[in-house]
Amino acid sequence: MKRELIIVLDFGGQYNQLVARRVRECNVYCEIYSYRTDIEKIKAMNPKGIILTGGPNSCYEEESPTYSKELFELGIPVLGLCYGAQLMMFLLGGNVARADVREYGKTEVLVDKRDSRIFWDVSGKTVCWMSHFDTIFKVAPGFEITAHTSSCPVAAAENAEAGLYAIQFHPEVLHTEEGMKMLSNFVIGVCGCAGDWKMDSFVEESVKQIRDKVGNGKVLCALSGGVDSSVAAVLMSKAVGAQLTCVFVDHGLLRKNEGDEVEAVFGPEGDYDLNFIRVNAQRRFYEKLAGVSEPEKKRKIIGEEFIRVFEEQAKKIGAVDFLVQGTIYPDVVESGLGGESAVIKSHHNVGGLPDYVDFKEIIEPLRDLFKDEVRKAGVELGIPEYLVYRQPFPGPGLGVRIVGDVTAEKVKIVQDADAIYREEIQKAGLEREIGQYFAALTNMQSVGVMGDERTYDYAIALRAVNTVDFMTAEMAEIPYAVLNRVMSRIINEVKGVNRVLYDLTSKPPGTIEFE
Ligand code: XMP
Repeated sequence: MKRELIIVLDFGGQYNQLVARRVRECNVYCEIYSYRTDIEKIKAMNPKGIILTGGPNSCYEEESPTYSKELFELGIPVLGLCYGAQLMMFLLGGNVARADVREYGKTEVLVDKRDSRIFWDVSGKTVCWMSHFDTIFKVAPGFEITAHTSSCPVAAAENAEAGLYAIQFHPEVLHTEEGMKMLSNFVIGVCGCAGDWKMDSFVEESVKQIRDKVGNGKVLCALSGGVDSSVAAVLMSKAVGAQLTCVFVDHGLLRKNEGDEVEAVFGPEGDYDLNFIRVNAQRRFYEKLAGVSEPEKKRKIIGEEFIRVFEEQAKKIGAVDFLVQGTIYPDVVESGLGGESAVIKSHHNVGGLPDYVDFKEIIEPLRDLFKDEVRKAGVELGIPEYLVYRQPFPGPGLGVRIVGDVTAEKVKIVQDADAIYREEIQKAGLEREIGQYFAALTNMQSVGVMGDERTYDYAIALRAVNTVDFMTAEMAEIPYAVLNRVMSRIINEVKGVNRVLYDLTSKPPGTIEFE
């Protein structure tokens, strides 16, 4: 089955991944490509519609991102958003220039053309999110103005006959109250997509594709127990069953009881057929980490040791045909392979071919999905919700939540404190409200008094942040009573701790992890 595709052409704006997510929320599949993508490639993909995103530049300047005018002559509907709208007008003969004042924030937009297909079922006055300096002063020939604001003459315009639509504001941002309707009006109403891209069809389609690709081949998957690798493993198992082997390396830096939990769900006693191999490598990791305090060095040691352990297992299994990786769509975009994103995260090993395992090809079954879609696929596959809705946990595990050198004793302290913290957050019903939260060991020891005795013990730091994209984050406000309970339980129940601190730092200047 050929699926319907919407292409998001990325001009470098900050909300571009959001545009793609919103389109998918309309149950329409879409992919992000850089504005540098050749038009022949776009044509070959035969999209049902194209969305031009926002971007930080001025479209009339020579060096600014642009596109061939031919894009508007393909007979494929195009929706330009913000920079995309200005570029559309500019390229087609309208007038775009810098306005006296920047229009920024929630703005009331007045819809002039109530029967515009983009504004179908949208109120005559609707609150939208604006963020622009440049303004469309005159629309291109053939276009009519369909909405305005008190300071912006062209908030939206269209040439309905040609299937071209321009919107100055950002319908993808939730502050635009009826933005989802507008996007849905475009992809379903204008482009004629059926809106039948759903997780069950994703699972079904993927299983078919994987079977075709793998045939009788042997598949190896590194399973961490995190959301992405768990969903990838279960999906693979559904497709190729006993041809799959999953290796779970317990590096001794997991959360309390996590190794056993992962084994209970995915191991031989669990519900899945994964040929699950657990490698208890705790001692090896602690030995390698002994006396090392420098954070980057610790990360390197953990990463390298992980490879060694995995390699040894792979050798035992023998040559495999396919290696599975849990790469997801934001990893692809952030690695600069889709879209315009400049941020390259080193811990995203997209398409990187580990040379330490003897295999022919890599399979990345979740490569097209956003995180929330991976979770939906996980639910669809019957993976327990507590695993599917887990918070992110870094590959190097507690190694990046213990400041200074790592010892088995410190791991135990931070595991116990973290388990209490998570339990209390859960009891308070705050679990899904906080982006990421955990306890870290500060490595600072100080004097305290316990009963009649002087103590000289560690301080635990509690971290809790809210974040949209994990690139920036703000401290999450946890009710004082909850913090107080966590503090008192940690001091009473965790041996070796006599102080609990709450980390107020945002990112930047801090990072989310505490290392
Ligand atoms: P930082 O600490 O860089 O974290 O603000 C941002 C997000 O990334 C996670 N993180 C990692 N994830 N391997 C991972 O898989 C890593 O080495 C790693 N370091 C940080 C962190 O938990 C947060 O969600």
